[in-house]
Amino acid sequence: MCGIVAGVAKREVSEILLEGLRRLEYRGYDSAGMALIDNDRNLQLHKALGKVAELEAAQAQQPIIGCVGIAHTRWATHGEPSTANAHPHTASDRYAVVHNGIIENHTVLREDLERGGVSFLSQTDTEVIVHLIDQLRPSHTDLLSTVQSVVNKLDGAYALAVIDREEPQSLVVARQGSPLVLGVGIGEMFAGSDTLALRSVTDRFVYLEDGDIGCLSVGDYALYDRAGEPISRQVVHLEPPKTEDVLADYAHYMLKEIHEQPQRLMDTVQAENLTAEQFGPEAAEIFLKTRAIQIIACGTSYHAGLVAKYWIEEFAQIPCSVEVASEIRYRIPVIVDGTLIISISQSGETADTLAAINHLGSAGIARLAICNVDHSAIVRASELVYLTQAGPEIGVASTKAFTTQLAALLVLTAALMQTNNQQSRLKEFEEAIANLPLAVEAVIDLEPKIKQLANHFVTKHHALFLGRGVFYPISMEGALKLKEISYIHAEAYPAGELKHGPLALVDEDMPVVAVAPNNGLLEKLRSNLEEVRARGGELFVFADEESGFETGPGVHVLAMPHSHILTAPITYTVALQLLSYYVAVARGTDVDKPRNLAKSVTVE
Ligand code: F6R
Repeated sequence: MCGIVAGVAKREVSEILLEGLRRLEYRGYDSAGMALIDNDRNLQLHKALGKVAELEAAQAQQPIIGCVGIAHTRWATHGEPSTANAHPHTASDRYAVVHNGIIENHTVLREDLERGGVSFLSQTDTEVIVHLIDQLRPSHTDLLSTVQSVVNKLDGAYALAVIDREEPQSLVVARQGSPLVLGVGIGEMFAGSDTLALRSVTDRFVYLEDGDIGCLSVGDYALYDRAGEPISRQVVHLEPPKTEDVLADYAHYMLKEIHEQPQRLMDTVQAENLTAEQFGPEAAEIFLKTRAIQIIACGTSYHAGLVAKYWIEEFAQIPCSVEVASEIRYRIPVIVDGTLIISISQSGETADTLAAINHLGSAGIARLAICNVDHSAIVRASELVYLTQAGPEIGVASTKAFTTQLAALLVLTAALMQTNNQQSRLKEFEEAIANLPLAVEAVIDLEPKIKQLANHFVTKHHALFLGRGVFYPISMEGALKLKEISYIHAEAYPAGELKHGPLALVDEDMPVVAVAPNNGLLEKLRSNLEEVRARGGELFVFADEESGFETGPGVHVLAMPHSHILTAPITYTVALQLLSYYVAVARGTDVDKPRNLAKSVTVE
């Protein structure tokens, strides 16, 4: 999703801006651009379709330099990926704007501006902002007050950074609904979509809130609220990240992140610490009063929520509903007294999840965030927090963030069991969690075998994934991974549903992946798989080594090391991640940056 980097310093900033864009590449984008005010007060611009490397090439060929500048990676929403639609957008060779978000009333604003004689050069919603600034600037004293007026005309979401060549010692930023953080340097100031973008220049950050507008200058900054009143926000000092986001010897970040999982799981959960206190000082009291749970999340994080529903209802005996955030945010669900709202998010900035938290939140309803990014918007919007310790996840397809979410949700289930007097199986949780890193290691050891299985998928166009019980959402996650990175159409079904429709799809061209741990549903699953074989479907069964499944004609079995049934959703996930990874590699796709996708989805 779009990334912003901006800076004002005594030194030249073009290289800092490019480094920031490189660090934001993981978010997904289709074009990039940068604008600087040079020493002669000229606005200088480079834009490139494709990768940041193209922008770097343009900069190498014809350097633009300056001490104040803005830069952007664009993920197309309004208008195709093209150089014309890439940011920054400019007006009168004087103002330049970068924007993340969506201006919902851009059509009306554009028509008004066009009636007034303005010509547009792009199809973007963003371009209205820079023309409004151009139009309103003469009736205002400075860029800051102009931007304050302009944002009052905008409906929708935005993070903005704006420069004016007539004010070459400052830049203006604004935030509403899309993330923006300030980086406080020594004698210099920066802004970025996330802290990762600015880690090379500072470790001190100010998280902007919705409605905030700021003016940054060398060594200083001033913040204002929507009404134009000065405000102050806390400066947060961040420790260096625990994991380096360098590839080392791995071919892709996704593979590196799959391999990191034993350590990240160990960092996220400790078997001896399955208590409410892990979720914050008020958690024990809130959990005691919890009568129902509503989980909200998107994508892979939603799948983690679906798994948690099985655990929370079975072990803690608390009713639990799970819904995708983009749906629940636009309806009126029944939220009974004593409901705990749980959001699950890797990035902590997902626009739909954040909106859903705000939509459901009301007096007396407690919110818990399970999140991988401290200080993120979702963490800041929640009373209780459990931080997963996945470290920065660079591959767009979520791997270690998902498994650490599941681990955190196991801790939550154990904590709720204790506050709800259901602790009889607590010991089992402790044992399963203590063994988890080793259990995941054992699955990673199967990598060569999984790589071989992957070869069978290379020429396929479709795949079905089947699971039962808690392994149904795991099969959904397996299908999502495969489609995201290999572009093979994949769907998941609860195996028992097969004969109610999808069985019609099964033939020799439809590989069917089954998740078959040794649990109470194994025999039921076995019958479902017989139905597939009887129709000529080729089976790929990820089966517990003690389940009795054997490789034979049309049946490929991956014998999974026996793991505790509580943590098996995590171990089977790791095997499915490796399957998707090797299918994608064999098909030659861009594994870490699959087409059309963004890492941090900050627009709805
Ligand atoms: C898929 C994936 C996405 C995210 C979804 C929510 O591999 O990563 O489906 O899970 O966009 O993102 P977060 O967890 O950041 O809220």
